Amino acid sequence: MAKLSIINNRSEALEEACKVLAAGELVALPTETVYGLAGDATNGEAVARIFETKGRPRFNPLICHMSGIGMAQSHVVFNDLARKLAETFWPGPLTLVLPKRSDSPVHPLASAGLETLAVRTPAGFANELIERFGNPLAAPSANRSGKVSPTRAEHVEADLGERVRLILDAGPATVGVESTIVKVDGDELSLLRPGGLEADSIESVAGRHLNRPAPGEAAIEAPGMLRSHYAPEARLRMNASFIEPGEALIAFGGGAVEGAEHATLVFNLSLDADLVEAAANLFDTILQADRVGAGMIAVAPIPETGLGEAINDRLRRAAAPRNA
Ligand code: TXA
Ligand code: MG
Repeated sequence: MAKLSIINNRSEALEEACKVLAAGELVALPTETVYGLAGDATNGEAVARIFETKGRPRFNPLICHMSGIGMAQSHVVFNDLARKLAETFWPGPLTLVLPKRSDSPVHPLASAGLETLAVRTPAGFANELIERFGNPLAAPSANRSGKVSPTRAEHVEADLGERVRLILDAGPATVGVESTIVKVDGDELSLLRPGGLEADSIESVAGRHLNRPAPGEAAIEAPGMLRSHYAPEARLRMNASFIEPGEALIAFGGGAVEGAEHATLVFNLSLDADLVEAAANLFDTILQADRVGAGMIAVAPIPETGLGEAINDRLRRAAAPRNA
């Protein structure tokens, strides 16, 4: 395994990553949401290696990352609504589930044999790499299955270490939670996973409401949405209004939490109660609390508005019973 800093050496990083990808191997790739474990989406062996490296129990479909609408339209069919959303929000934290073209060379293992394909265009270095490589990159988050998603290169190194050929380091991810996944079916929109793009922004551009499938239904639509996910070693509870002795506290804003003085450690996702900042800090804070050996993490209430929807979704999964 090698770790390469993109900030110091962008062109070397691009070249090295293309070599690794062309050999059917994987790179840990920074995106604006989280670090991804990326492989050539058209190469069945590379895609299989993604599942094996993560230890994913089932072949859930993966998001295929595109350099833009131009590349994406060789793989999926855009209607006017999908095109409008892509034109407005790409590059960025929005994944669209669209009908897969029968002539798309994306390997069926990447789409789990479904008739649809999840596509997104990431910003920054990831985008440059896809453009230069020329094929879409399949990339789930670069963590072992069920664990917290990585927002820094060091998180990937700690979790996957030797299992990945190359880790590209571009510093902390700016968004901090995974992309919002929306299925476009004619003029119907369904929110399959809340994420780094607020549902409100999508609704106002689309001029229509997002269907919110019940959790069971969403699990069938987005089979990767297991209930227990993002699990830290510690147990985690949400909406804590008081602290039991021995717990670590993850606070939000200036809201008082009763007994906070008993907490073994106090973190704050955002002192200003800014949900964007809180999303960016979420996974790193959970990992830090884990590293200091907190047996129980209590998280203060987070509002359900804007990015709070994605933050609370991830917290609910982290707090869910483990072998559900
Ligand atoms: O921000 C992100 O989206 C990150 C970065 C690396 O881009 N990627 C990511 O990928 O979170 P992953 O594989 O962890 O999540 C993919 C989700 C899964 O829940 C899967 O079930 C769903 O997308 N999905 C993929 N293809 C689908 C499809 N055709 N229909 C419905 N859901 C799909
Ligand atoms: Mg993931």
